[in-house]
Parts: sequence; C-alpha cells; structure tokens
Amino acid sequence: MTDFIKGDSSWFTHDRFGMFIHFGLYSLPARHEWIQRNEEIQADVYRKYFNNFNPDLFDAAAWAKAAKNAGMKYVVFTTKHHDGFCLFDSAYTDYKCTKTPYGKDILREIVDAFRNEGFKIGLYHSLIDWNHPDFTIDAYHPLANHPDREALNSKKEMTEYRKYLHRQTEEILTKYGDIDILWYDFSYPRLAKNGKGKDDWESEKLVELIRSIRPQILLNNRLDLPGSGDIITPEQSTPENPIVDENGAPAVWEGCQTFSGSWGYHRDEMSWKSEKQCIDMLINHVSRNGNLLMNVGPNARGEIDSRAMTRLNDFGRWMRLHSRSIYGCQAAPENFKEPRDCRYTWNPETGKLYLHFMNWPSSYLILPDMQGKIAYAQFLHDYSEVQFVENNSSVLHGNLAVRAPQNSVTLKLPIKAPDVTVPVIELILK
Ligand code: GLC
Repeated sequence: MTDFIKGDSSWFTHDRFGMFIHFGLYSLPARHEWIQRNEEIQADVYRKYFNNFNPDLFDAAAWAKAAKNAGMKYVVFTTKHHDGFCLFDSAYTDYKCTKTPYGKDILREIVDAFRNEGFKIGLYHSLIDWNHPDFTIDAYHPLANHPDREALNSKKEMTEYRKYLHRQTEEILTKYGDIDILWYDFSYPRLAKNGKGKDDWESEKLVELIRSIRPQILLNNRLDLPGSGDIITPEQSTPENPIVDENGAPAVWEGCQTFSGSWGYHRDEMSWKSEKQCIDMLINHVSRNGNLLMNVGPNARGEIDSRAMTRLNDFGRWMRLHSRSIYGCQAAPENFKEPRDCRYTWNPETGKLYLHFMNWPSSYLILPDMQGKIAYAQFLHDYSEVQFVENNSSVLHGNLAVRAPQNSVTLKLPIKAPDVTVPVIELILK
C-alpha cells in the first residue's frame, strides 16, 4: 500500500462538532437531494430548478451564527452534489449558481461568513455528476432505466469527466483561501455495470494534486483508495465502539447525521429526531472518539427552517453549559468502566472525566472501580457539588441499604434529574 501523506487532525479531534450543509437545486422540489434519480427526471425537466434558483433570503452570516450558537466549530458545505449543480463560480461549467437568477457565488459568501465566526472550512464535493455529458450512466443515474442507456454511454468519455473533476478540485482548493477538509462523495466500484471507483476518479493522482496544494488538509475516505483518507465517515449510524484502523489503533472518524430523513431540504419529511436523540448522538460520538457532523438542508429561499433551527438551538442550550465534556474530549481509557445507562468522555489534557446520564437513575449511582480515584465531583450545569462515598456497602436509599461492590464509589444524586437534557458530572481525578 502506498504511504500517503496524512493531514493534521489535531484541531479536528479537539473541535468534535461541525455543521454539514446540503444546499442546491434540490432545495426547490424539496423532496430529497436524490430527487433527480428517485423520480428519474431528465436534465431538460430538472432545468426548471436551475431557472428558478433564487434564494432571496440567503444570509451566510446568519447560517454561521446559527452554527456557532449550536456549539459547532467547523462547516462542511456542498460545492456540488450528485446533480452536478455547482455552488461556486467554476470556470469549467455554466451549471453553477452565478448563472442562475441568484447570480452570486454562494461558496464565497459561505467561506467568508464562517471564517468570520472562527470556523474551519470543509468542502463536500460529489464525485458523482448526473449533469456532466461524459459521466457514464450507472444504476444510480437518473437515466439508469433509459432504453438507450448503452447507446448513450458509448459516446461518453470518462477521461473527460475525470479532467473536469481534477480541475474543479484544484479550483475549490485554490480560489477560496485555506480549506481545512475535503469531503468527497462517493465511490461504488462494486455496483454492477459502470460502478465507479478509484480508476474512474484517478484517485491516486487526485490525492497527489490535493496534497501538493494543501499537504495538511483532511481528506475523507470515499475515494476508494485505502490509506489515503484521514477521516472515516460512517453515515446515519453510530458505532457501538471506537473505530480502529488496520493496526487496531484508534482511528479518526466523523459520523454524519441528519435531523430528519433527508440531507437536502425536504418539506414533508416528518421523521425529525427529538432534542434528546440529538444530544445523545453528540455524546455517543465523542465518547467513542468520533466527531459529529450534523446536517442542515436550508430551503429554497436560503433559510434554515424552524424545525432545524429549533434543534440547533437545543444543541446550543446544552452546549452552553456542557461543551467542556465535548471539546478536547475522547473515549475514556478502558479502565474506566461506564456505569449503566451512562457514557464517559475524557479530556486527556486535563485528565478530567465526564459522566453523562443518558437515563436518570435517581438518588444514587454506583461507579465501578473508582475507589480512591476521585478528588471532587460537580455537575457541569451549575457547578453544584456531588457528594460521594467510597466503597461503602450501606448507602441509604430510603430504607433500603444498597450494597456497593468492592472498589466502587457511590455518587449521591438528587432524586429528580436536573433540568437539562442530559446531565453531566465532572469528575476531577486525583
Ligand atoms: C450519501 C448520499 C448523499 C449525501 C451523503 C452524505 O452518500 O448520496 O445524498 O450527501 O450521503 O454523507
């Protein structure tokens, strides 16, 4: 395997929480970002969304503020999605925002506004392109079931598409200042007939190009080129355990998640996750060494709708009081065994351990194997002291004597859960 240059992930594993933004022509039909494929819409029909693309209320500064208030530290923005529409002023196509009624370079506004709020900048770029004339029709393509599929394909030159992909990569990495993450999407070499992978993208060359422009950039793992990525990117699922690399060492990973069942704006989608689910997700990622990249799909006027804003505010309310258990934190060393219904995160720099209650136990909680290790314990939301007893077999719970196992510590808790979505206790260790 080639020895690939690796990017600098130190800021990334510190910051832990980012905003994914899916914005594009699909925001108009508002029926999922794969609508062109799902409804097999021909290019000339899909064109109506291009002709009517005019997000008059788009305010990149407002998006950046919303992300900042939620506690997010970096952004990953769609420069181009599978439909091929470019949200930046590319020199190599007219299928771009500057040619729509909106007329302006959206990516420029995004990078300026988010940098202004201190964000690191990530760019999502689709490897797939349903608009490019030389991109061969495969099973994911809107023309997959076209009767003349093979005849159409025989005229296509993937080498031309490859050139386009490489040139646009160079554009987005050179024309918009320092880019911190490049997030390609995606490869499917095993898909029967015209499936696409590293040979189709010329991934090795692409990686060389990227590293020659920005050696420290973080690259995700969707180029079908093992070893070339810095970040593993599970999607819509939360791993049970920390993800490890080929050698069993902890890997850098980032789970990308949606508030509801679509990445692009979906007006009628109703499966929105609750506040509790969202906060749990963030904790579940960090407690397993992961980052959370939380997606918003702004609507066609360029606004993050009230459902998404509500959840961003929920994150913000919780993060205002608890970000200390997220930033700079990771999975706790294995000798700290998580108590029932709890998650630990750990800050290796301060040595502090954070106990998250995914379910409130009421009145006490036994921490296994913690005898003699805790100097002080406090809730994060109000810094109120949490009293504890060491290895004591007779903590009173009403009239019931509770047996604490050897070497444990028992925390004395209020019967009623504190009024925060997920309470956190900071354990200051000896
Ligand atoms: C999938 C989908 C895509 C979405 C991406 C985010 O690969 O194709 O619509 O952008 O996931 O990870």
